[in-house]
Amino acid sequence: MKIVAGNSNLPLATAISKELEIPLAKGTIRRFSDMEIFVEISENVRGEDVFVIQSTSYPANDNLMELLVVIDALRRGSARRITAVLPYFGYARQDRKPAPRTPISAKLVANMITAAGADRVLTMDLHAGQIQGFFDIPLDNLFAAPVFARDIKARLTGDKPITVVSPDVGGVVRARAIAKRLDADLAIIDKRRERAGVSEVMNIIGDVKDTRCILIDDIVDSGGTLCNAAVALKDQGAQEVYAFITHGVLSGGAVARVTGSPLEKLVVTDSIQATDAVRGAHNIEQLPIAPLMADAIERISNETSVSSLFD
Ligand code: R5P
Repeated sequence: MKIVAGNSNLPLATAISKELEIPLAKGTIRRFSDMEIFVEISENVRGEDVFVIQSTSYPANDNLMELLVVIDALRRGSARRITAVLPYFGYARQDRKPAPRTPISAKLVANMITAAGADRVLTMDLHAGQIQGFFDIPLDNLFAAPVFARDIKARLTGDKPITVVSPDVGGVVRARAIAKRLDADLAIIDKRRERAGVSEVMNIIGDVKDTRCILIDDIVDSGGTLCNAAVALKDQGAQEVYAFITHGVLSGGAVARVTGSPLEKLVVTDSIQATDAVRGAHNIEQLPIAPLMADAIERISNETSVSSLFD
């Protein structure tokens, strides 16, 4: 087995290679002066089972292109099987046409990864489960739920009643999975804009008064959904609000929004490399997913069950 790292998240790739006790394959990824990407793998990969670790996070287009070029280099180097490991699959939110004459970019990106030569995909907490069907190659979708549930059990249970909260109706399945693991109650925020130009009304379905609320979501990008949810929960009498969100995209003014919010703590995984601002934020923390990713990579390579990781 060989592990190849793109540049999007070297700390995570290094941690995965340590878990597997397999050094990262040697190679260079360079830029021509016009920013074209050039890749050279310096080790023989003929007949190898190769895993390429690359999140298509910011800068999304550069990181995506780098992934495609690395896969092409491996395919032309006669790798036996290439697995694209995308701890965070950027473009996943563009999974349907929200209006006429708009693209379904998640499908386009899936086609590009397949056309480049990937034989399989390994990713985590896809924005929508159905995106698996955008790929005509096998895809394993891991869940951060066990990592989150373990941390919540260790640090946040025992002293106060817990309510797990989905910040929108679309995230209920994800939140319910964690509530089940914690044996906790579930609440749902129902956002509604009655008329265009009228501000959103947040109805909370469920009782959150005097409880410790734990918001669960797949992505925090601008932080708008999360911070508005935290304010709404506080207004309804929640004692404390925490958030566990798989992918910390945290773009634009998100970090300032989170640090200025009533959130006690936002916990994200390291599927996306933390910026200095994220590292310096008093109420943002990262949980490592290298052990989970490494376990899944090992199972794929040995052709044993990946789903049993979540039993
Ligand atoms: C939406 O369906 C997603 O699950 C997230 O709630 C959303 O992407 C978060 O975006 P933002 O942080 O920009 O509100």
